[in-house]
Amino acid sequence: MTNTTAEFIIDGKSYTLPIIEGSEGDRGIDINGLLQQTGCITLDPGFKNTGSCTSSITYLDGNKGILRYRGYAIEDLAEKCQFVEVAYLLLHGKLPNESELEHFRGLLERFALLHEDMLHFFDHFPPNASPMSILSVMVNALHNYYPEMSDDPLENIDITAARLISKIRTIAAFSYKKSVGHPLVYPRNDLSYCGNFLNMMFDKPVRPYTVRPEVVAALNKLLILHADHEQNCSTATVRMVGSAGVNLYASISAGINALWGPLHGGANEAVLDMLETIYADDCNFEKYITKAKDRDDPFRLSGFGHRVYRTFDPRGTIIKTACHEILEVLEVSDPLLDLAQKLEEIALNDEYFISRNLYPNVDFYSGIIYRAIGIPSNMFTVMFALGRLPGWISQWKEMREDTTTKIGRPRQVYIGEPARDFVSLDQRS
Ligand code: ACO
Repeated sequence: MTNTTAEFIIDGKSYTLPIIEGSEGDRGIDINGLLQQTGCITLDPGFKNTGSCTSSITYLDGNKGILRYRGYAIEDLAEKCQFVEVAYLLLHGKLPNESELEHFRGLLERFALLHEDMLHFFDHFPPNASPMSILSVMVNALHNYYPEMSDDPLENIDITAARLISKIRTIAAFSYKKSVGHPLVYPRNDLSYCGNFLNMMFDKPVRPYTVRPEVVAALNKLLILHADHEQNCSTATVRMVGSAGVNLYASISAGINALWGPLHGGANEAVLDMLETIYADDCNFEKYITKAKDRDDPFRLSGFGHRVYRTFDPRGTIIKTACHEILEVLEVSDPLLDLAQKLEEIALNDEYFISRNLYPNVDFYSGIIYRAIGIPSNMFTVMFALGRLPGWISQWKEMREDTTTKIGRPRQVYIGEPARDFVSLDQRS
């Protein structure tokens, strides 16, 4: 992996560090020996230039708009796979053959129920509790009910991964049912992963839900598109928390909390709020584009921009097409879709957005699909978490399997007061 070096000078003295090259041409200066050799650390707030690990899970080229899981193009996976296959691919590094897929599906079926005692938890959240906070709490609590990871976290990782991937959809659907005051609908083994989730969400004793294959297909695609995205904020959180030696459930729970933020996964809910606000304001695009460009105004165009993509987010492109397809199939006419397209067109022709390479990201159109299939906006980020879970687990597993992993512990450059004498309380002005 190492064949070139970086040479640099600090205070007139020259140093050499190795450059690590990835399988797709990524290059990273290995600064492992930097502090020891030079007495300096690197300073990179927001980690714009910092690689925290090597990884063989997901490849992303932000300049060309390329995204691949384990070498497979996101376009192919989204078109040709089931979410469960992609989850297996991320976890195991290969697409499953029929018997492997059958086995994995069997595990997901086996683990779909929640321990009945955990159902009481739902009764103690206030009615307007955020489903993201419920999800994070419940996932964290799973460790108490399924402590099989305690001794050797990697020995039972396949079981724990399947347990978590299966149970998270039950938790998500139950939290929704509780929030609307409807009776819980239990998982059914005759339904697919996505079909099961939709049924648990929308089936009612008074009105049975018909699982439509087109809706299942749309959800399947959305979950695949969200399944991993290398070292983003929530994934880096999962790895960081896990590096302290904590169990998988607690690490994932931390990732869920990171995802909640409006600059990250919470953007899908924020996009819909933004579109509704603009719609209610007589579609005054000019006003909101001006606000987004104003540095003194905290308003940003939600669903626009990305730390890594400098061109179209390939997931956004797929989602936009899927959005048109599902709305047509369901015969839904959503004015917010027209509004979103108009907003996109205005932004893409505006010098501010062009010069900063700001394009629609994965979240810009996903909310319109969720809305069309009946998922309320406060569940959008939960849907993101459902999709991202196999990625988080795979990244956690890769981190724990790597024998060189150390606890994540960044440094800082201290800029506070220099040492000073203590002043007793009665002497302080
Ligand atoms: N609207 C208006 N201006 C924007 C936007 C936006 N959505 N995004 C970035 N900018 C501007 C910034 O103000 C900055 O301008 P400046 O150079 O004049 O200071 C410039 O573009 C660069 O932006 P940064 O904030 O430095 O970029 P960063 O990589 O730190 O942030 C982020 C990326 C958080 C995604 C940002 O683009 C953003 O806030 N977007 C809206 C929220 C969003 O959609 N998040 C979801 C991202 S995808 C995901 O996490 C799943």
